[in-house]
Amino acid sequence: MKTSTALVTGASSGIGSVFARELVKDGYTVTCVARNEDKLKDLVGEIGSEHRYLRADLADEAQRQIVCEDIRESQYSLLVNNAGYGIYDRFTTIAIDKSNHLIEVNLKALVQLSHVFLKNSKPGDALINVSSVLSLLPYPGGAVYSATKAFVTNFTEALWYEHKDKE
Ligand SMILES: NC(=O)c1ccc[n+]([C@@H]2O[C@H](COP(=O)([O-])OP(=O)(O)OC[C@H]3O[C@@H](n4cnc5c(N)ncnc54)[C@H](OP(=O)(O)O)[C@@H]3O)[C@@H](O)[C@H]2O)c1
Repeated sequence: MKTSTALVTGASSGIGSVFARELVKDGYTVTCVARNEDKLKDLVGEIGSEHRYLRADLADEAQRQIVCEDIRESQYSLLVNNAGYGIYDRFTTIAIDKSNHLIEVNLKALVQLSHVFLKNSKPGDALINVSSVLSLLPYPGGAVYSATKAFVTNFTEALWYEHKDKE
């Protein structure tokens, strides 16, 4: 039987590291993606050397391409787009570069990785995009963050309809 394989973004901490550990318990071979190499090394040391990490800054187009190439070549059965973060302040107080960086990570990387994954996916493969309850709420003080998550929820539900017959 073919081994189930997964790539988890934002696996170096929080929800992503829990995804990685739980997927290992479910028999997946996992590739962990994030920027912090020390944390990724520690995680792979804990979950086992059959798993691997790929250090990448998903805000950087060239590094996103390396992750896309890995997805194309490795033919994962599951992609977990979990990497993301929030900035909380009045919109005009936040430097526009910071909001753009948030959009790169929470949106552009997620769309790009979803595209390469689904283009190469087979029946039975799965895509998980981590959103937030804030996707359902306009959130003064977190306007760009909640809007990125509204995009993620809307986008992911549309993809589900487009791909449900592939199961
Ligand atoms: N915690 C909550 O209450 C909550 C609620 C709803 C939704 N969420 C969502 O859940 C996801 C995970 O959040 P969390 O709470 O687990 O946060 P976290 O502990 O801060 O983890 C965020 C992960 O994203 C990675 N990441 C951030 N920027 C990145 C970049 N430029 N390139 C690659 N990786 C990057 C971080 O790794 P490095 O720093 O090593 O790169 C880290 O592994 C996020 O999408 C968040 O919006 C969280």
